[in-house]
Amino acid sequence: MSDLFKEKAENYDSEEWAQELSSVVGAMITAKIPFHDQMHVMDFGAGTGLLSATVAPMVKKITAVDISEAMLEKLTAKAELKNKVYGLCQDIMVNPIDEKFDLIMSAFAMHHVENTNKLIQSFATHLQRGALIALVDVDTEDGSFHSDDNLGVFHWGFDRDDLKTILEMYSFENIDFKTAHHFDWQGRKYSAFLVTASKV
Ligand SMILES: C[S@@+](CC[C@H](N)C(=O)[O-])C[C@H]1O[C@@H](n2cnc3c(N)ncnc32)[C@H](O)[C@@H]1O
Repeated sequence: MSDLFKEKAENYDSEEWAQELSSVVGAMITAKIPFHDQMHVMDFGAGTGLLSATVAPMVKKITAVDISEAMLEKLTAKAELKNKVYGLCQDIMVNPIDEKFDLIMSAFAMHHVENTNKLIQSFATHLQRGALIALVDVDTEDGSFHSDDNLGVFHWGFDRDDLKTILEMYSFENIDFKTAHHFDWQGRKYSAFLVTASKV
């Protein structure tokens, strides 16, 4: 499989928008999730570890899952994440991890996964009973968000009601959507949601 984030990985962390989004999203997830020092967290589509870095001081361990070796190389090179955040280059829908997590969090990765049903089903199978999800992505947009480079982009954002239906299908409850952020990108306006829920 080719690494679609190989080039982006090089300068990803220095992009102002990536830093802004991750700090806003990190703060919002931190306010919503009761983190504690025994938690094992999966960061799905962790990339270079911007979200993991915010959460790491509050939990026991983070498994940072991504299919881009280049993005994970950036993550594993960060000294501050050592012994806490572990990169795993694996497609968990094809090769599940033989472990159950207390939380799965994800920022701006779900729109890169074609089959959302299968992804949410996979999240459900990787969670303990009563465990949580905290997922951030873009609300439905007109395709302009990735108009210059849409390889590996399968969704023009997400409709909240459609995503709620999928979450209910895989036995999530206490489903709550909040607007995580309004942001400008190349002269257009977008919004991002944070959805939290617990696994029955
Ligand atoms: C826009 S980046 C977001 C990275 C990071 N979460 C952040 O907020 O900075 C999307 C990430 O999702 C990853 N990704 C795409 N498809 C994936 C899959 N099937 N499984 C795991 N990661 C995936 C990409 O490789 C990329 O690192």
